[in-house]
Amino acid sequence: MSTKNDLFLRTARGEAVERPPVWLMRQAGRILPQYRAIRNRLSGFKELVETPELAAEVTIQPVDELGVDAAIIFSDILVIPEAMGLPYEMVEKRGPLFPQVIGSEADIKALKSGAFAAADLQYVYDAVALTRKQLDGRVPLIGFSGAPWTLLAYMVEGSGSKTFSKAKKLLYTNPGLAHQLLEKISETIIAYLKLKVQSGVQLVQIFDSWAGILSPEQYREFALPYIRAICEGITEVPVTVFSKGAWFVYEDLGQLDCQVIGLDWNTPPEVARQWVGDGKVLQGNLDPCQLYAAPEVIEKAAIKMLERFGRKHIANLGHGVYPDTPLEGVRAYVDTVKAYRYK
Ligand code: CP3
Repeated sequence: MSTKNDLFLRTARGEAVERPPVWLMRQAGRILPQYRAIRNRLSGFKELVETPELAAEVTIQPVDELGVDAAIIFSDILVIPEAMGLPYEMVEKRGPLFPQVIGSEADIKALKSGAFAAADLQYVYDAVALTRKQLDGRVPLIGFSGAPWTLLAYMVEGSGSKTFSKAKKLLYTNPGLAHQLLEKISETIIAYLKLKVQSGVQLVQIFDSWAGILSPEQYREFALPYIRAICEGITEVPVTVFSKGAWFVYEDLGQLDCQVIGLDWNTPPEVARQWVGDGKVLQGNLDPCQLYAAPEVIEKAAIKMLERFGRKHIANLGHGVYPDTPLEGVRAYVDTVKAYRYK
């Protein structure tokens, strides 16, 4: 099946294009009234994630409504811990919660991993295959996973946290145990992403949402080697690494065997380009809160951002779009990028 609008993939592969492609992290979600309508008649978030027909439907909603240049499969990074043996709950208005957490070597030994764990996520592979079929080549489909460190953080902490100090404590007090857990998580991520690719995703993005709370030394010891293994393991499609807040290791990220580096909104594009080098495509990085402004203000900010990035750029936000963002703001951003042409 050929992709009709393949601008996103051509850009990710480093080809010369006429304008940057645009999509938004968390584009499938509560910003869309169609999403809220489906969500409100279900028992909860997990029912949506685990029902392929519904996951496919909400994945395609932003393509229909906003005209973005890529779809991202509707799911969550927490499906991996669950497949490894730690079920999660999504608590209304509070976020994720793990009733059991990892605290000992016995807990880690009891976890499933690799292909054995990844085999439990058939509902994701079915959602991917169905979405590809229903997209019918309109735009490429992105797959994703959490990065090993970010998944460890939830598995040890048990919920979201401002500091993730329990998870960081493990790195400082029992690094050997942390490495055992990171190893098992990484094997599972690689098996999972390979199955997602076989089911039809055309690029994969690694979300290291909590990269920015590590020290540079910790990042190099506990995050980077595992991300490197994933990049080297996934050879079939381009890979995007989004390590939020990890400006202090951009030189290292520039050496990874991946095609795209995602930037948060704190990172000046010129600085990132200098540190990452010319080899990679950069993705980002408008502040999600910019989309609360008036459409004409958003348009000016977007053009300024596009000019600062120049070529080899995929337009996105610096993190996921906030659920209460007015649709007209989101539309102003997407439309501005789509009307832009490189000189
Ligand atoms: O559109 C897309 O980007 C695809 C779907 C997607 C979701 N979660 C859906 C979702 C993606 C890519 C994720 C990744 C994810 N999940 C990350 C990494 C990206 C990031 O934001 O840093 C993280 C850390 C999670 C864990 C998670 N899932 C949290 C902290 C929350 C609660 C926050 C919230 O917005 O309520 C979720 C729930 C979640 N995942 C929702 C959606 C649409 C909201 C659930 C709802 O509909 O009530």
